Amino acid sequence: MNQYIKSRRIGFLGAGNMAQTMIRGLLETDFVVPEKILASNRTPGKLQKLSEQYGIRTTPNNEELVEQSDIVVLSVKPQDLLAALEPIARSFSQDQIVISLAAGVRMPVLEKLLPECRLVRLMPNTPSLIGRGVIGYLMNDDEDSALESTVEDLFSSLGQVLRMADEDQLEALMVACSSGTGFVFELMMYWQDWLMEHDFDQETARRMTVETFVGASLLASQSEQIPLEELQNRVASRKGVTTAGLQSMRELEIERALRISFEKAALRNSEIARDLK
Ligand SMILES: NC(=O)c1ccc[n+]([C@@H]2O[C@H](COP(=O)([O-])OP(=O)(O)OC[C@H]3O[C@@H](n4cnc5c(N)ncnc54)[C@H](OP(=O)(O)O)[C@@H]3O)[C@@H](O)[C@H]2O)c1
Repeated sequence: MNQYIKSRRIGFLGAGNMAQTMIRGLLETDFVVPEKILASNRTPGKLQKLSEQYGIRTTPNNEELVEQSDIVVLSVKPQDLLAALEPIARSFSQDQIVISLAAGVRMPVLEKLLPECRLVRLMPNTPSLIGRGVIGYLMNDDEDSALESTVEDLFSSLGQVLRMADEDQLEALMVACSSGTGFVFELMMYWQDWLMEHDFDQETARRMTVETFVGASLLASQSEQIPLEELQNRVASRKGVTTAGLQSMRELEIERALRISFEKAALRNSEIARDLK
């Protein structure tokens, strides 16, 4: 399969943060070479940087990008997607693979724009930059096992690639894992601030915070057979310090607060989807 991917040309339409993360991840594999990657962008600055940094090919012309790519990754913001696609929709060839990263742009909208293409919605998150992403995807044809293998082989260097059962699951993954990365940083800032209030300088407070999150995450990751609750119980002795803190977290209904934040993010995603219809 890697042989198949090796020969594919991959075009990124839009060369912003997520495209750059994915390009970097792809180039870390031994089956995607810079000459096989092409990127286009609205303004030229990012293209110049990408070609200097990674030696990939670039073009200011989206139509040319589509014509020269076997796999097109749509990596513009959701609100820019329709304007980017409409003028060039005819340039896509039959059965061309098109991978959309656009949050909120559901499969029926993509199918209407590109009815002849093999379509994938893919939802990465920023830890993909270091190969620790959670990447969900959905295909417009459930039976297309060749496309399934292509997506999994192509993006496994970015992290865990998970096939979703439907749009609902993909959107839940987006909230919990893509936006969720931002939510985790919010928590980390609370930890860091609290340590700084106890006279740690910012650098040390940051290091202590990050290592606590990394340590807990790696411990959970390396103890897959042990439920999270059990790992938590091992920290908390009866009537002890951790138990007092946990009890307070429950009394303050932190779970409810987080749940409401997740629902708000999901609602915003539905609003974007509605506006793009
Ligand atoms: N960032 C994340 O964590 C994340 C996670 C999951 C999914 N996504 C999805 O990834 C997509 C890209 O997000 P991002 O964070 O990478 O956004 P971004 O940094 O703003 O990148 C978007 C790029 O698209 C370019 N662009 C806009 N219209 C264009 C057009 N007509 N033709 C060519 N290029 C055009 C922009 O060019 P300019 O330089 O001229 O502005 C910009 O460089 C979004 O759909 C988002 O939903 C992002």
